[in-house]
Amino acid sequence: MTRNLRDDIDLVAQASIAALRAPSVLNTQPWRWRLAGAHAELWADRSRQLEGLDPDGRLLLLSCGTALHHAAVTLHSEGYDADVDRLPDPERPDLVARVRRGAERPAEGRLAAAVQRRRTDRRPFADERPADEVLDELRAVAERHGVHLHIVREDQLTAFAAAVARAGAVEHADARFRDDVRAWTTRPRVNGDGIAAHSVVAAGRRTIAPRDFEMDAPPFVDAGAGTDRGTVYALLVTDGDEPRDWLAAGEAMSDVWLTLTDRGLAASPISEVIEVVPVRQALRALLGGVGNPAIAMRIGVPVSSDAPMSAEQRRHLANS
Ligand SMILES: Cc1cc2nc3c(=O)[nH]c(=O)nc-3n(C[C@H](O)[C@H](O)[C@H](O)COP(=O)(O)O)c2cc1C
Repeated sequence: MTRNLRDDIDLVAQASIAALRAPSVLNTQPWRWRLAGAHAELWADRSRQLEGLDPDGRLLLLSCGTALHHAAVTLHSEGYDADVDRLPDPERPDLVARVRRGAERPAEGRLAAAVQRRRTDRRPFADERPADEVLDELRAVAERHGVHLHIVREDQLTAFAAAVARAGAVEHADARFRDDVRAWTTRPRVNGDGIAAHSVVAAGRRTIAPRDFEMDAPPFVDAGAGTDRGTVYALLVTDGDEPRDWLAAGEAMSDVWLTLTDRGLAASPISEVIEVVPVRQALRALLGGVGNPAIAMRIGVPVSSDAPMSAEQRRHLANS
């Protein structure tokens, strides 16, 4: 099929619009898309970086990685590879990627459909554990991005739970961390970003508590009947610890999350264990000192699949 420049421009515009639904730390959406002919350029927006929680910009680049992968998935659904140049210009490190239509391929729409359904689900999941075959598939999905998905083993669970609790306590006691959370949980609604009260969930009956957003209002969402007994905790682990690795971790996270959504599972990230440096180091030790944990996720069978979480707000295209 012959396509002209106009078609290519429409295609990358469509991909960057779909990418607005990508998950990001505290829903900061720390990216900007610029359409440049047949390319879309993805830029890191440093004005949206969390100074206390994310001084190195790890979670910022991870978030940009989820947006990049969401854009790629849209091209796949239209029957094209995504031709991506990552961090192409050392002089301009905030130019995260250039994306354009690649070669034709069979259209694959399942993950693009999952983009619309995926939510951060902070409710406790079911007693039933995700099937081993699906966990194996998620591992393979992460590996496609050169990232390893380590499922926390039974004998590592106590240490992992202690790491989450310690990170929460450190953040609670430190104004730098609290200020970031406060700033992004009190954004004016018109901005279309930040965390709204409607997505914060009561702790419920579980051993690893969800992030405390310290909202003024009580949690809006009922924890439901889940106990988290079947929930698995996973770490996305990179070989290196550079911006390129954080970006890859974000792409892997998006791929894993959309795939598990397509398979009927649900998830929510746990990034406080990465934000607090000594805790991040403790997790590295838990992995035997091999690899660098980029983010943790809880993955499970949703109890309330008939009552999906409501969609978190997003910026309009004109502001992104
Ligand atoms: C890098 C990254 C870190 C995140 N960290 C956390 C976290 O520690 N706790 C949490 O509950 N959600 C976390 N989230 C989920 C975001 O809050 C969520 O993606 C955002 O609010 C948009 O909501 P949605 O995912 O339902 O679209 C994280 C997401 C990303 C991409």
